Amino acid sequence: MAVIAYKCPKINTTVVDINKEKINLWNSKDLNLLPVYEPGLRNIISKVRNINLFFSTNIKEAIEEADMIFISVNTPTKSKGFGAGYASDLKWVESSARTVAEHAKGHTIVIEKSTIPVRTAELIQKILEESNFSYSGDNKRSFAVLSNPEFLAEGSAIRDLENPDRVLIGGNDNKAMKKLSKVYENWIPKEKILLTNLWSSELSKLSANAFLAQRISSINSIASLCEKTGANIMEVSRAVGLDKRIGEDFLKSGPGFGGSCFQKDILNLVYICRFYNLNEVADYWEEVVKLNNWQRRRISTLVVQTLYGTVTAKKVSILGFSFKANTNDTRESASLYIVRDLLENGAIVSIHDPKVSMDQIQMALGAEPKQQNDDTDYGWFYEDDIYESVRYSDAIIILTEWDEYRNLDWIKCFNLMRKPSWVFDTRDVANPFEVRNAGINYWGLGQGNENFKN
Ligand code: UGA
Repeated sequence: MAVIAYKCPKINTTVVDINKEKINLWNSKDLNLLPVYEPGLRNIISKVRNINLFFSTNIKEAIEEADMIFISVNTPTKSKGFGAGYASDLKWVESSARTVAEHAKGHTIVIEKSTIPVRTAELIQKILEESNFSYSGDNKRSFAVLSNPEFLAEGSAIRDLENPDRVLIGGNDNKAMKKLSKVYENWIPKEKILLTNLWSSELSKLSANAFLAQRISSINSIASLCEKTGANIMEVSRAVGLDKRIGEDFLKSGPGFGGSCFQKDILNLVYICRFYNLNEVADYWEEVVKLNNWQRRRISTLVVQTLYGTVTAKKVSILGFSFKANTNDTRESASLYIVRDLLENGAIVSIHDPKVSMDQIQMALGAEPKQQNDDTDYGWFYEDDIYESVRYSDAIIILTEWDEYRNLDWIKCFNLMRKPSWVFDTRDVANPFEVRNAGINYWGLGQGNENFKN
């Protein structure tokens, strides 16, 4: 909405939420307090907030006044009931549709922005249409439902929104589709705006994420083979990606994909396939998630094994807790799983991240940090100085590719660490030569050639 407000000065946008605290943060004078860290966002907010972008908890008024409403609520994987572990929980989408049904006036275009299972638009449509039967106010209400999935990636959200590969608008109401297209045409060339039917639009979103995640699992699977054979994953990835038919993006091996979308969307796809009895197709996509789980576990196992079979009472420094660089989002981050494994194995884990706070880590791990006077020899604590975090550590594990970790002073690290000291680089950001030269043992993901030197 910030980008729409910025690009379309004539459109008034209001972001509403039932969470008052969040809205207060979005309204805070100090832009450092915005609840989401995203490069470029602060700058845009400072230009449009309270001009044509408003944050409010007055949901009724915003709905009454709106010509278009984007439903942008979360759709997490269901944790219980039918489809638990696979299907998306649509309770927030449904309650949003009901709130729109309660307050809307005149003609309202309702747009699914949240990633949702195929045919969710039907549910929204039904709720909206049938609401008129019990509606007591102005009876000349009407609705159009569109699907307009979002393809931005966190960390590059503003860039992706300003210059998207495509904008997808799905629906069966041409007038409404044209109206939404006009909004985007304020800054996006018309040929990049695709109009499709509702179900194609919904399925394209799930498919795009499934394809992207599949590439990561593919390259991670090859990384493990590199380690066994002496090949180098960066060389293999470059050689493979230079084939124009394959392309070079999303071929970077790592500790496993995280974020709020890939796993959830694939599981959703798997659920839909099973629902339609397409079990082979479901198995095919599920394997992408299974390989990702394996990748995370493979790394924690490897760390424990390399540290002579045990991490009990050993100090391990985790560099990076967000699921990728340039975001403070920790949802489904590989770090989360790897830290949990290490804690279960009795390690003392020191965590550093340039943008993730201690409170966020505590919430994500569901465990309190170790207190200073706590003399138990396991648990985690937060450290905001990289070198302090490394002090007395047996091992450093680089889990997020933050720039801060690219040029560390390895000699300083060596002097601070307990010996024998180890670096496990799951993002291949450190220079193996420099690490080793400083006297630290080195393991790099997919770097068979380097790993064999130990
Ligand atoms: C992803 C998609 O890239 C977006 O197109 C989509 O709109 C979004 O999900 C969504 O559905 O909301 P996002 O999860 O923000 O975006 O981040 P990505 O850049 O896709 O990264 C996801 C994970 O894959 C990260 O953990 C990242 O480190 C990992 N990754 C990515 C790799 O391990 N290797 C790569 O080559 C690329």
